[in-house]
Amino acid sequence: MNKTDLVFQSYGRCCNRDAFFVDFYDFFMASSNIIRERFVKTDMAAQRHLLRNGIMQLILHARGMSDRKLKALGESHSRSHYDIKPEWYSLWLDSLLKTVRLHDPEYTPELDAAWREVLTPGIDLIRGAY
Ligand code: HEM
Repeated sequence: MNKTDLVFQSYGRCCNRDAFFVDFYDFFMASSNIIRERFVKTDMAAQRHLLRNGIMQLILHARGMSDRKLKALGESHSRSHYDIKPEWYSLWLDSLLKTVRLHDPEYTPELDAAWREVLTPGIDLIRGAY
């Protein structure tokens, strides 16, 4: 199986776990006060739902889907909107892999590396729009 398929299946197992997105935001917000401050006014139930779709967009991008939705995320996260600094994306990715490790019963270090490799081009697209 190729890496994109491995990640797609891992994501399916993660999405079956109710606490996945709650734990992701707990890890992500714990990674820095600056990150936590960005979400003080956010409806987190809605945000968890939006992220579920956002991660799917990153995976679909790696499978050759169009850039349109990721470009829109690049725009919303850029300096003129949410002003998400490029260096914060590594905290985001590390928090995501901590969460995958916690929830995917088939987690391995190789799967961790596959996740990072598969998501990086899509993350770079969003970050690059800063
Ligand atoms: C909103 C995905 C990285 C902070 C959103 C939304 C999505 C999303 C789907 C809702 C749609 C929108 O408003 O455009 C992602 C993905 C990321 C990422 C896939 C990684 C590649 C980050 C990072 C931060 C961040 C690193 C840093 C704090 C926010 C904030 C909002 C948001 C503050 C708006 C929340 C609100 O409406 O109050 N993100 N995001 N995101 N994201 Fe991200």
